[in-house]
Amino acid sequence: MRFSPFNRFAAVIIVFGGVVTLCGIAALAQTQPARQAQRQTPAIANVGRTPTAEEMAAVDRTVGTTGKELPPGRGTAKEGAAIYARKCAYCHGQNMEGVRQMAGTGALIGGPRLAGAGPPTWAAPASGIKFFAFVTTVFDYIYRAMPPYQPYSLQPDEAYALTAYILFKNDLIREDTVMDRETLPKVEMPNRHSFIPDKLEDIPDIEKRGCYKTYGVCP
Ligand code: HEC
Repeated sequence: MRFSPFNRFAAVIIVFGGVVTLCGIAALAQTQPARQAQRQTPAIANVGRTPTAEEMAAVDRTVGTTGKELPPGRGTAKEGAAIYARKCAYCHGQNMEGVRQMAGTGALIGGPRLAGAGPPTWAAPASGIKFFAFVTTVFDYIYRAMPPYQPYSLQPDEAYALTAYILFKNDLIREDTVMDRETLPKVEMPNRHSFIPDKLEDIPDIEKRGCYKTYGVCP
């Protein structure tokens, strides 16, 4: 049977109408919460791919307490001093004494003391390097966060040298000690054993748990 142009047009309309009706029924059949959920979660299947180990390494600089993620590289306090003078001193002071941030001025310049004793120089209660339990945290902090407006800008050698310089100024290593992924994790911080575990049960000594009879009943 042959369709006249008119019949063909009518057939298209009928088929089209049928599809629209089916869609309408499907839409009506969908429950309200399901439709809301669909609106919130757009279909993102088959978009993107799992990053490769190299791609992750380029954006993930995190160094944990064991130091196993430390990048290849090296540096000494002497090398660090020159970098510090250029990139850090205007916020942390020529001698790491800190730079006071002017309250209420919105000034961007200012940073806490990094070595030596004295009153706090910055608005935030800075802990000081010697407070850190792990030397790898000092490296991690610098390598990822400093200078604050240029995070991730330091090269591994610069981060090793700056860490070495700050450790040297805190009397924790010698001026010529090379810091690299082998030597750095071996530096023991003075505060290493002053932190208490998350779980009180891990502290066998009841007095070290801070349980004194005056404050109530001890277990
Ligand atoms: C623009 C100012 C500025 C510059 C430049 C800067 N810092 Fe900082 N730095 C800060 C501030 C502010 C903090 C405190 C951040 C906080 O406590 O949230 C800080 C914190 C630190 C700390 C942690 C101190 C602690 O006791 O917790 C270290 C280490 C450090 N900076 C090292 C460096 C090094 C190394 C450089 C040079 C590459 C540098 N900073 C450059 C402002 C600066």
